[in-house]
Amino acid sequence: MPDTSAASPTPPGLLDALAALLGPRGLLTAPEDLEPHLADWRALYRGATPCVIRPADTAELAAAVKLCASAGVPMVPQGGNTSMVGGATPDESGRQVVVSLARLNRIRAIDPVDMTMTAEAGVVLKAAQNAAADSGCLFPLSLGAEGTATIGGVLSTNAGGNTTVRYGNARELMLGLEVVLPDGQIWDGLRRLRKDNTGYALRHLFTGAEGTLGFITAAVLRMYPRPRDTALAFCAVADEDAALALFRRFRDRDESAVRAFEYMSGTGVDFCLTHIEGITLPVQARADHYVLVDLASPRPDAGLRDMAESLLGEAMEAGEVLDAVLAESEAQAQKLWKIREEHPEAQKREGASVKSDVSVPVSRVPEMIRRCSADLRKLIPGSRPVPFGHIGDGNIHMNLEQPPGMDPAAFLARSHDIMDCVNAVVREMDGSFSAEHGIGRLKTDMMPDWRGGAELDTMRRIKTALDPWGLMNPGKVFP
Ligand code: FAD
Ligand code: MLT
Ligand code: ZN
Repeated sequence: MPDTSAASPTPPGLLDALAALLGPRGLLTAPEDLEPHLADWRALYRGATPCVIRPADTAELAAAVKLCASAGVPMVPQGGNTSMVGGATPDESGRQVVVSLARLNRIRAIDPVDMTMTAEAGVVLKAAQNAAADSGCLFPLSLGAEGTATIGGVLSTNAGGNTTVRYGNARELMLGLEVVLPDGQIWDGLRRLRKDNTGYALRHLFTGAEGTLGFITAAVLRMYPRPRDTALAFCAVADEDAALALFRRFRDRDESAVRAFEYMSGTGVDFCLTHIEGITLPVQARADHYVLVDLASPRPDAGLRDMAESLLGEAMEAGEVLDAVLAESEAQAQKLWKIREEHPEAQKREGASVKSDVSVPVSRVPEMIRRCSADLRKLIPGSRPVPFGHIGDGNIHMNLEQPPGMDPAAFLARSHDIMDCVNAVVREMDGSFSAEHGIGRLKTDMMPDWRGGAELDTMRRIKTALDPWGLMNPGKVFP
């Protein structure tokens, strides 16, 4: 039983023991070294920590976890610290130690026959994509933060992103895990089997657990054949219904070719044009609604460009598409994607914004966007709804930007009213208040309302069974 009664922020002797175990590269205590680990990407929270533990490998992490657990010290796993819900930052108590997985950054194995990659938790998502490409395959998970987010982070949040519509969430791309449990035991579940029904699927328990049950240290990831034919279209569309109708056209013609299908509002694209260097409007005239259609196939003769031209032509005749541009090169495709990917950054630069990461059945997305936008404008006159995202998955980031000139702090003080306003519509549509970013610290108080009763109770029992002293990422997920 660990000593959880420690009155001082860090029990005496713990830092010395960690220093002896981990060496100077493995333990940060200087304020300037701690700094980048204390605040979240959205700057919603700023915590404190006595140290950042940076183990070099799984065994070192396990030994460090044993030391912290027996001293009763809470631990906060941190990957790239790109959480949208404050999931990877310590609280303000100064008691929680940050455990960074950044040095566990090796690709342990790649097998193009099994189509698997065994990657450590600290491997940056982009590096995993590159390693797959180098072996002639594809690791398809893709999101705006892929240059910083890590394999451990995307699995712990069960991240979605742009390609979920074709390849599923992070969970679907994982076959096995290696985990350090809250008491320091190592569970080696790095199996690369497509079929393995042997009791409870523990790997799925740790995926999406947001660091509350243990540390993911490595994973067997599932790869796919690399695309040999691609096409990308940026389209101005008539309205939200037209965006969905266009999605259906492509999906119904060849579902397997739709790698991503993303919706953007005119407001969001305007913010990108204003704030992000190198972005220009690809279509002739400004519109209120846009979509990005990304097609890919492993077949070199898939004829995706012809298919896109033909479907866009039909959609123009039907009045769904107002104007469209097809990328002529990989460089142009990247430029078009940049407009979508820079939405979070552009919103940040425009001022304070409140995010709602919601999902509803795909068929109800247009109605959801319209109703939420109207209700939000009524709630805060002059505020600017910026809906965008993964329309093909029914997952829209129903974000709201502050009215121009309003005090950002006064706007952010309304965060919960804003999220409640969106959630009221989403609930009526049997949707979710947390589609892909997770609960983190931001949404814990919404859990009883949305997942209360037997569901939250079962989650608590699992948590208590694995982490009886509540040392893993306290204050996250559970209210
Ligand atoms: P962190 O932020 O460090 O951690 C996230 C959570 O996982 C925390 O609770 C942390 O404690 C836990 N954790 C981290 N590593 C481990 C580990 N090894 N073991 C156990 N727990 C761990 N998300 C989407 O789903 N789709 C998107 O399209 C998307 N776009 C984004 C765009 C931008 C610009 C940004 C900043 C974020 C975006 N996100 C998106 C948020 C998303 O959750 C993260 O980018 C990613 O999943 C987190 O990876 P990370 O390594 O930064 O994890
Ligand atoms: C994205 O898809 O870009 C992020 O998940 C959403 C956001 O910034 O709200
Ligand atoms: Zn997203």
